[in-house]
Amino acid sequence: MNLRGVILAGGKGTRLGELTKVTNKHLLPVGPLPMVYYPLKKLTGAGIRDILLVSGTEHMGDFVELFGSGREYGCNLTYRVQDEAGGIAQALGLAELFCTNASCIVILGDNIFYDPLHSFIDEAHRFPHNARVMLKEVHDPQRYGVAELKDGKVISLEEKPKQPRSNYAVAGIYLYPPDVFSIIKTLKPSGRGELEITDVNRAYLERGQMNYGLLENYWTDAGTLDSLGYANQLVREKPPQF
Ligand code: DAU
Repeated sequence: MNLRGVILAGGKGTRLGELTKVTNKHLLPVGPLPMVYYPLKKLTGAGIRDILLVSGTEHMGDFVELFGSGREYGCNLTYRVQDEAGGIAQALGLAELFCTNASCIVILGDNIFYDPLHSFIDEAHRFPHNARVMLKEVHDPQRYGVAELKDGKVISLEEKPKQPRSNYAVAGIYLYPPDVFSIIKTLKPSGRGELEITDVNRAYLERGQMNYGLLENYWTDAGTLDSLGYANQLVREKPPQF
């Protein structure tokens, strides 16, 4: 099976204030490494060799300077520019040509987690037509996409609900079959003016093609001052598995 990796490292980073005035969120330190190393090492650690990195115009040069062709990291890197931060699903849409006839593992560049990605690879082979999300129980689900579970299945997905139906946050780690791009083309911008990844996931749920796994160890985003501090603490105490 042709399986490719996509790292989404665009967006505005406005929640980090002065820290992202002259740089990109994903270049900020998390433990001993810039944040964006973590998704890259997760993908290469799982044997993914062809990886696309999406970011905005302002800092793309910094990513190229950091990773180059990917040779030093055992992968082939491709870069695509997202002109404006039109949402996670819009950023993923830029991977269409890169993923021709391939399934993709997508990681949000600000997600820091311990578990390696091997289960994803197994899953892609077992269910080549299904999408997969990873869930983690959290105390503040209204900050995230939220999945409701029943009888071992996802039965609803909502983006940042005011009254979450469960404590299961949808982590920024996704597996999609090659038809994801036809779904993205049908999306309309949400209330916050973005193409939402939760709408993509909901389309697979409605078709009965959505699987999920539970992250066994820690997971956090690192996109706010608090969560960036927490991510640093987690990584120092227990470095992630690649
Ligand atoms: O962290 C997990 C959560 O990430 C999920 O539970 C949510 O369902 C999902 O919508 C997302 O929520 P956020 O609102 O926290 O996403 P944020 O806007 O911070 O973007 C997350 C990453 O996606 C960011 O590190 C860079 C990338 N991104 C984001 C946008 C809006 C892009 O590459 N382009 C974009 O236009």
